[in-house]
Order: sequence, then C-alpha cells, then structure tokens
Amino acid sequence: MVGAVDKHLALIGFMGAGKSKLGRELARLTNRPFVDTDREIENRFGPIPELFERGEPEFRRIEEQIVAEALAGPTAVIALGGGAVLSESTRKRLRHTAFVAWVTVDVDTAWSRVRNSGRPLARDREEFGHLFDERADVYDLLAQGTGEDASSLLLESLHVILSSEIACDATVIADERVASLHELTAVDSAKLTTYLVPAGEQAKTPAVVERLWNELELGRDGWIIGFGGGSTTDVAGFTAATHLRGVRWVAVPTTLVGMVDAAIGGKTGINTEQGKNLAGAFHFPWEVRIDPRFLATLPPEERRAGMAEVVKTGLLAGEALWERPDEQMISACAAFKSAVVLSDPYERQGRRAILNLGHTFAHALEAGSGYALRHGDAVALGLLAALRLSGRPTDVVEEVLAPEPVRVDRERAWDALLRDKKGALNLVLLGDDGGYVTQVPEADVKHALDELIAD
Ligand SMILES: NC(=O)c1ccc[n+]([C@@H]2O[C@H](COP(=O)([O-])OP(=O)(O)OC[C@H]3O[C@@H](n4cnc5c(N)ncnc54)[C@H](O)[C@@H]3O)[C@@H](O)[C@H]2O)c1
Ligand SMILES: [Zn+2]
Repeated sequence: MVGAVDKHLALIGFMGAGKSKLGRELARLTNRPFVDTDREIENRFGPIPELFERGEPEFRRIEEQIVAEALAGPTAVIALGGGAVLSESTRKRLRHTAFVAWVTVDVDTAWSRVRNSGRPLARDREEFGHLFDERADVYDLLAQGTGEDASSLLLESLHVILSSEIACDATVIADERVASLHELTAVDSAKLTTYLVPAGEQAKTPAVVERLWNELELGRDGWIIGFGGGSTTDVAGFTAATHLRGVRWVAVPTTLVGMVDAAIGGKTGINTEQGKNLAGAFHFPWEVRIDPRFLATLPPEERRAGMAEVVKTGLLAGEALWERPDEQMISACAAFKSAVVLSDPYERQGRRAILNLGHTFAHALEAGSGYALRHGDAVALGLLAALRLSGRPTDVVEEVLAPEPVRVDRERAWDALLRDKKGALNLVLLGDDGGYVTQVPEADVKHALDELIAD
C-alpha cells in the first residue's frame, strides 16, 4: 500500500523537533486518533525523569511496550519519543505497520526548545550535540519521508512530490495535446515509451482502455505513467489498475485540476454509456509528481476550472489558499486533499464526501446543460449555492471565480439532483470547523439551485 494509506503515520525524530504538536495537527487533519507515546508513558507510569532514574533500560522496556500497543491499535498518527527507534523490535514493527516520517529540526533549535525542560538527555549541550548526530543516522535509515511541517508531511504520506523527473523505465500514457507541448524528463538512462491518448475527456472510454490493454508491452513489474490532466491520469490509473490485474503507476498531472485534485487520492476511472466515472477502481499512484511549469500552456478556461477546486479547498481548509503563488497554492491544496484521503481512503466512512462541497449543484447543472457546461464553472456556481445555504458570505467565490447564472434546463437539473441524492437531501455545507454533511429541506435546495439558473 502506498505511503500512510491503511497504515499508521508514525513521527520519529529528535527531542524538540515538535513531533507532539505536529502529530496533534496531523491527527486533526486526517481525522485519526493521536497517540503521543511519551505522554502515554507518563499517564501510566509517572514522570519520565523519574523513570529514567531507575535506569534507561527499564524506561526503554516500558517505551517499547507502549509503542507496540499503539502500533497494534487502530490506524492513527503516532508521535514516538526520540529514542524509541533504538529498539530493534520497535523498528521492525514500524516497518510493517507504519509510514515512518522523520520530523527534522536543526540542533540549535532543538536545544533552545528543550534545554530547560528537565529532560534527562537534555542537560549538557555538548552531549546533546553528539546524541543528535548519532540518532540522525538511525532516523535516516528508517524514515520513508521527512518534513518540518504538517503540509510537507501530508504530501510525503501520499508520495506527492514537487518535481516531474522520472527515474525508472516506464510506459507513458500521454494526452496527445500535452505530449505535443511538453516532454517528460527522465533521469540517467531511464527509458520512456509513450502511448498517446485523445486529449481530455475523450480518452476516458472503454475503447481507449481496451486498445491500451492490447498494445501495452508491459510486464507485471512494469510502470505506467499518466501524463496529462485529470482525464489522462484517470484513464492511465484505471489501465494500471486492470492491466495484468494491476501494475504500479505514477501520475504526472499537467492541469491545475489534476495537481490539486484528480491525480491525488487513488480514484481512477472511465465513463460508460450510462454516465461519467461509472467504471473504475481505487488504485493509488505510487507517486504523484507535480511540476507547476506545465501550467504555462494551460488555456485560461482550464485554469479557471482549476481555481474553482482551489477555492473549494481553501474554503474547506479555512485559508485563503487562492491568494498564494502557484507552487504554494498547489502544494497546500494537494496537502489538504491528501489529509482528507488519509482519513477515509476508500470513501467508506463518508468523510471524503466533504470534498464534494458545491458539487451536488454542479453535477445538477452539468446534467441540465446536457454536459455542455464545464465542470469548474459548474463548481463555481455550486459553491455559491452551498455558501448561501450555509449562511456564509459568497464574496470570495464572486471575486475569484465570478460565476454567472447559466442557461440550462431547470427540470433536467432538478431531476438530476434528486436522482443523485436518491431520497434524503444530504448536502455538504460549510461551518466554522470546515465542511460537514447535513440534511437540507427540499424547498431550500430547489430555491438555491434556481438562483444559479438564468432564464
Ligand atoms: N480521480 C479523481 O479523483 C478526479 C477528481 C477530479 C476530477 N477528475 C476527472 O478529471 C477530469 C478533468 O480533468 P482536467 O480538468 O484536469 O482536464 P482534462 O484532463 O480533461 O484536460 C482538459 C484539456 O486541457 C488540455 N491540457 C491538459 N494539460 C495541458 C497543458 N499543460 N497545457 C495545455 N493544455 C493542456 C487537455 O488536452 C484537454 O484538452 C474529469 O474527467 C474528471 O472526472 C477525477
Ligand atoms: Zn470537482
């Protein structure tokens, strides 16, 4: 399994790195329980300095037991004491049950944070420095990811990387327009074989997938790369999920929608005659390689579509992410989506549903337009409706996305919305703590939808 999907997110690192604080934040963002092993030890066995006085081996035995219990428990975010990974059996357990992330810090910052804390191993600056170097080697060997803040650790937890260089031989499934504008760079001698698929949504058909199954010369240990927007990564991911019962794949998104949304989270799929995304699979990309430079050639209407998802994400995260420069905006959105995905990777608990803020209305409008309306433009309108029903200001959506009511078939839109909801009108609304799902009276929903439609 990729990264921290279905695994604990275990934070290792030196004392003073901020593992407890970060762990608490990551647990909140991923909606997972949080275990701070030092805190747990103190709750059950008393203050750590006192335990240390009985000898370090005794303390390490207790620590090993507490960590083992946490790792045997439900999928969580776990902050480990700085020396916990000295135990061979703890390292072994971590390798099997956790994505191990090293929270890095420089030695002076760490010292300034812990020098007066009474910690047994933080009494002498010189010894502290030696221990810091010694431990760094252990962390380095064990860590699968590193970072100093929540956002970068979340990206690492789903192998989202801000670079597009490809390091291994692979079969590239590329959007034909994208392939005419951009080239993927391979490092060293990595060999890339390219298969072109139609630009955009036209690629998401059973016929395209069947052609790929037939033509791909790729063994079970081969790699597929999806190179294009969300349409291409959807079809490449689905091909990877099904070819020879599943091969590994890497997503290299080239649209803003792809970078902040479609390439992240393991949902892959194609359209059938019955509708969009009706055949698919969860198949997480081994890596998502994001390179904002690809956006230089993106048509303005495609960028606007992406900004609708950015505004959605910013509203959910409670931060004006849309105001940041591209690279920061993209990594913050990708990190937020990663957190939600980690909270509910297979959409079983329903938490992933919050990512659908504004989307019930968007889907209805898309249907009402006979699918002529662009998804992003529909989402912009859908966000207006969701904010109005949430009793919140709509100025951000108006300023950043400037949506205008659209001329679509009211009846068809409303029917589609009811069909989409199959009875109870549960919608994602926005509260002070982000998105939540709630039941909304039919008349209010109908009114909100009507306001989005021009006569
Ligand atoms: N799997 C998921 O979780 C998920 C999430 C959101 C959306 N999606 C899917 O993503 C699809 C939409 O993806 P999209 O919005 O990224 O668009 P897209 O992939 O359909 O591409 C839109 C257009 O932009 C062009 N293009 C792509 N990159 C370009 C570049 N760098 N320069 C110039 N032109 C470029 C394409 O050729 C195409 O014409 C939908 O099918 C949707 O269902 C999937
Ligand atoms: Zn969307």
